Amino acid sequence: MKGIILAGGHGSRLRPVTYGTSKQLLPVYNKPLIYYPLSVLMLADVTDILIITTPSDLPAFERLLGDGSWLGLHLSYAAQDQPNGLAEALIIGADHIGDEHVALVLGDNIFHGPGFSQLLRKHPADMAGCVLFCYPVSDPSRYGIGEVDEYGNLVSIEEKPTNPKSNLAITGLYFYDNRAVDIARNLTPSARGELEITDVNRAYLERGEAKVVELGRGFAWLDAGTQESMLDAGQYVRTLEERQGIRIACVEEIALRMGFISAAQCLRLGEGMRNSPYGQYVMQIAHAPAE
Ligand code: G1P
Repeated sequence: MKGIILAGGHGSRLRPVTYGTSKQLLPVYNKPLIYYPLSVLMLADVTDILIITTPSDLPAFERLLGDGSWLGLHLSYAAQDQPNGLAEALIIGADHIGDEHVALVLGDNIFHGPGFSQLLRKHPADMAGCVLFCYPVSDPSRYGIGEVDEYGNLVSIEEKPTNPKSNLAITGLYFYDNRAVDIARNLTPSARGELEITDVNRAYLERGEAKVVELGRGFAWLDAGTQESMLDAGQYVRTLEERQGIRIACVEEIALRMGFISAAQCLRLGEGMRNSPYGQYVMQIAHAPAE
């Protein structure tokens, strides 16, 4: 399965900060926002990943993440010239996807919760259609909202509904089989002028091939698109990390645990950051991976 991280957009709700840098490069506590969705793909055992961003931000992402070999990954980059919608990522990424399945994750989505890695690895192998992840929210009119039957099938989906039929938001993590590329190519722009990922999901729904995994209580799904949600996400990460002595979305640790890099490689990465608490944690993990 191939991976795509969509890290485009102008970040207009975070002006003036985003005049100088991309939203997805801003820190959520002690690491860039993009580390969080990157860690989701790594935990799903996806190692060949395309990062799509704006033409002006692309060099900064390359500077941060390079070709990914330091994490045992293969990272490549593509530009989305205009914010034409999330579904355009599947068109821009068509060559990268080739004839494989694809995991698409939005660059500002943060997922954290018990059993998440197992959940991620359970689904893609036998996937026909798509697998979506939903999460109950208090403000459903801000999201793509789904209704799900008792078997985990999606039965309706609406983008930012005025009168939501449920409180289940479709989160920004999507597993698709190879037909997603053609589905995206045949979309027409919505009223807001975008190729909507919700329309891709609806196409699978109409074929009866949209499965939904519910992320329930005790799970955190955060987005970091506003100044408040960015600060909230940072506080959440800080609280858990300090209390438990662990790191959330530490990509070096995940690379080590997934067997993408050796302990010696991990140690070198930590040594390069030895002046920061993050770097010291990476060094510690390389010596003795925490359980
Ligand atoms: C997008 C999708 C929406 C989804 C959300 C998740 O919203 O269109 O369906 O629930 O991401 O973060 P947007 O970021 O375009 O408002």
